[in-house]
Order: sequence, then structure tokens, then C-alpha cells
Amino acid sequence: MDMKITLQVNGAAHQLFIDTRTTLLDALRERLGLTGPKKGCDHGQCGACTVLLDGRRVNSCLALAVAHQGAEIITIEGLGDDENLHPLQQSFIEHDAFQCGYCTPGQICSAVGMLREVEAGWPSAVSVDLNAEHVTLSDDEIRERMSGNLCRCAAYANIVPAIAEVLLIPSPDAKPGSGSGVYPEPIRSAQGKLRELIGDRNKEAEQ
Ligand code: FES
Ligand code: FES
Repeated sequence: MDMKITLQVNGAAHQLFIDTRTTLLDALRERLGLTGPKKGCDHGQCGACTVLLDGRRVNSCLALAVAHQGAEIITIEGLGDDENLHPLQQSFIEHDAFQCGYCTPGQICSAVGMLREVEAGWPSAVSVDLNAEHVTLSDDEIRERMSGNLCRCAAYANIVPAIAEVLLIPSPDAKPGSGSGVYPEPIRSAQGKLRELIGDRNKEAEQ
């Protein structure tokens, strides 16, 4: 069945007449020409298609476009542009955190969502204290929280420090990318910067 829908993508409304079985990934790529989100597995296994839906990271290959009318959808194209890169985009370049780049848009969108989850205090499978008010990110925490995003080029050694650098000041004895680095909690100014960039999930939850 075909249906007329409106998707809010990167700040603009788009009207589409689509088959109700169309995935959000196909709608973005094939109908709106947004080829940042990649089709890796098309089965929710690789994270290459990750976008932000109302601030939360999702695999767009598993989402039906018709189910997300009214949601604020952000793709890698909406995070920054050539003149004004998102800090994570800049950090990935500076850390050489990719090779072929196929997974990179998904990695960056996922990292934006992941850092939001950290700000909100969400524990991960490797968090020791599930009730801790603040999450202290370590390399292991970043790896676990980003484990839904696969990189066939295995650029993980640079992806982890690229993400860590956006918000965190490494402690003097931390060795980013070594697997043993433990980072202090985000500094105040960095927290403020994150909220400015991607919103404050704690505040949204209270509303
Ligand atoms: S293409 Fe969506 S998870 Fe792989
Ligand atoms: S950089 Fe090639 S798949 Fe990640």
C-alpha cells in the first residue's frame, strides 16, 4: 500500500508518497538522496545505517519510514557541513579514525547518541556501578557502547580516542587507544558544549 507521509529530516520537512513497507534507510537514501547513512547488512547487525531519531541512535534499516512521521531525524549530513564540521567529524579526521569511510557516518551518529546516553548517566554492560550518578568513560566503556557499529577496516584503535577527545580531557597517565586508559569525568565546559550541540536528555526526560 502506498501512502503520503511527511518526514522531518535535518531540519526540513519532506513529503513522500511511499510504499508503507519502505525502511527509513531506503527513504533517506533512495528518495531523499541522503547517502550518508549506509546500507551495510540491512539486518541491524553493523550500524552503518545509524541515524538519530529524536536524539536517540537507531538502525534506520530496521525502522519503517511511515512509523516516524513527526520525529526529528538527523543524518550525518545534518550534523555539520564542510565549513562547520561537528566536533566528532573533526576529531575523526584528526585521529585518522577511518580507512574506507563506509562505517564512518554511522560511527559518528552513533557516537553522538552514545555521548548523550553517557550524559544522562545510562550504564553499559561493562559499567561497574549501575547506580552511579555520573558515568566515567574508559576505553572499555567506549568500546562497549559503540559495539553496535562495526568497522570492516578495523579502525577501532583510532575511533576510540577520536570519540574520547571530543568531551574528555585524558588524565595524565591515560593512554587513549591503549585499552587501558581511564578518563576523568567530563569537565564542565565540555558538558555545556555537548548540550549546546546535541541537547540535554536529562532535561527532556523531566519534561
Ligand atoms: S545496514 Fe542497518 S545495521 Fe547494517
Ligand atoms: S573505515 Fe572502512 S569500514 Fe570502517
